[in-house]
Amino acid sequence: MGKTGKKRILVTGSLGQIGSELAFALSERYGAGNLITSDIRDDDGGKLDGSGRFVKLDVLSQESFAAVVKKEKIDVIYHLAALLSAVAEAEPQKAWLINMEGLYNALEISRMHGCSLFVPSSIGAFGPDTPLDNTPQDTVMRPHSMYGVTKVSGELLCDYYNLRYGIDTRGVRYPGIISHGTLPGGGTTDYAVEIYYKAVLDKKYVCYLDPDTSLDMMYMPDAIKAAIDLMEADEAGLKHRNAFNVTAMHFTPVEIAAEIGRHIPEFEIAFDNDPVRQRIADSWPNYMDDSAAREEWGWNPEYDLRSMTADMLKVLGEKKINGELDL
Ligand code: SER
Repeated sequence: MGKTGKKRILVTGSLGQIGSELAFALSERYGAGNLITSDIRDDDGGKLDGSGRFVKLDVLSQESFAAVVKKEKIDVIYHLAALLSAVAEAEPQKAWLINMEGLYNALEISRMHGCSLFVPSSIGAFGPDTPLDNTPQDTVMRPHSMYGVTKVSGELLCDYYNLRYGIDTRGVRYPGIISHGTLPGGGTTDYAVEIYYKAVLDKKYVCYLDPDTSLDMMYMPDAIKAAIDLMEADEAGLKHRNAFNVTAMHFTPVEIAAEIGRHIPEFEIAFDNDPVRQRIADSWPNYMDDSAAREEWGWNPEYDLRSMTADMLKVLGEKKINGELDL
């Protein structure tokens, strides 16, 4: 058992795309009795049932956030409560509040209670001046989106808390995450999830990004593996604590459509550009260099476009047969 073994864990934003699956992985690995899941919403559908104990928590209330950490004797926080890029662009003030104030509270509480802290950054931390091919680990970061501004600021703040207070902060720059469990909420990379649902439901999809827009992506099992592997990694080997580039594949809408077409020959893709999300996507890497993560903590994803597509279509096809699939 690694670093977080036999420790008490809190996940914020547990009802979100990553949180809802990370919760089950953590509970399987460390025991449901050691896991507290939380979200600002009630778990009305019982989505997290069996993964740990659920508490309703608004991360903007430092008092109630701290009370949960204290009462539950939490040692490790996975702080996933945040807004994604497209919704953040629609409501920048709200995005600053949730992404920054929520993180500040998580950091302060980690400082006061000696917790280790995982915080996801994103490809959104890069901007139009960043080298977009083979984007280096350490490079120019001048994002133009509010989401990106909060992600770069968050990376710096997490580094600061480590340097200044010795808090064990860690994080990765996630690419687009593809999954069949919970839908993402308002990101620029969401098309790569929707396309599978629409392929299974309608055999056609209208994409809001241009045909040749290349972005880094990752299948959910690898996203969860990244978080857990990094939190379990030997601290001595980590030079970049809070902002590791991690990727598993990169593709364009045309390339993912072609891969789906290998399984569903009638599948058709059409295009109807959304200028807001296109501008964001154009400022993000075509593909990243994730060698620092590979070298410093052994990052090694399992899924590529071919194996992910086969699995997504299999699972979504079964859900459709069972009447459980809608978008
Ligand atoms: N998937 C995220 C988004 O599109 C990127 O981190 O906002």
